[in-house]
Amino acid sequence: MMDAIEALLTRKSVRSFTDKPLTEEQIEQLLKVMVAAPSGGNRQPWRIIVVQNQQVKDELAKAALDQHFIATAPVIFAVCRAPEESAARYRDLGRNLYSFQDTAAMTENLLVAAHAMGLGGCWVGAFKDKEVSQILECPPDVYPVALIPIGFPAKVKGKPQRRPMKEVVRFIR
Ligand SMILES: Cc1cc2nc3c(=O)[nH]c(=O)nc-3n(C[C@H](O)[C@H](O)[C@H](O)COP(=O)(O)O)c2cc1C
Repeated sequence: MMDAIEALLTRKSVRSFTDKPLTEEQIEQLLKVMVAAPSGGNRQPWRIIVVQNQQVKDELAKAALDQHFIATAPVIFAVCRAPEESAARYRDLGRNLYSFQDTAAMTENLLVAAHAMGLGGCWVGAFKDKEVSQILECPPDVYPVALIPIGFPAKVKGKPQRRPMKEVVRFIR
C-alpha cells in the first residue's frame, strides 16, 4: 500500500471504469475511511448512500446533467450533509460552512483511499440537487453535496496541471 503523501500526489480523477465489482470488504474499508474525516466539533453532520443498483445509478447520471460515466462505475457513493446537526451547536457557522467542509473532507478521504487501494473515482458536484434528493429518498434536512463513482480504472489519463505555487501561496515570515 502506498504511503499517504504518494497517494495524495498521484491521485487523479478517473472517469472510465472496468466492469469489475468492488468487494464488500473494499466498500466497508472505504466507508471506514470516510467517517474517519474530521468534522467541526466532531458533529459528523453527514450521511452516505452506497448506490449499486443500475437503475438508480442511471437516474443519478441523468440528474448529474447527463454525465453518463458515473453510471458505468460499480458503485456510486452519495455524500449528503445534515446541516442542522452542526447548526445545533454552531448555528449559522455549522449550517452554512462546517457542514460543507466536513462532507468535503469526507469526500477527499474517499478519493485518496480509493486511489491507494488501486481504485479510482471522481468528485461529481454538478447535479440537480432536488432531483438527486428525490432519487436517493433523502429525508428532510439531508442534502446531497457530492456523487462519487468508484471503480477499477479503465483509461488512465494524465493529471491536469496545477497553477504555479507563487500564484496561490503567500508566506508571512
Ligand atoms: C467541488 C467539485 C465538483 C466537481 N464536479 C465535477 C463534475 O461534476 N464532473 C466531473 O467530471 N468532475 C468534477 N470534478 C472533478 C474536477 O474536475 C477535478 O478534480 C479537477 O479537474 C482536477 O483534476 P484531478 O482530480 O484529476 O486532480 C469536481 C471536483 C470538485 C472538487
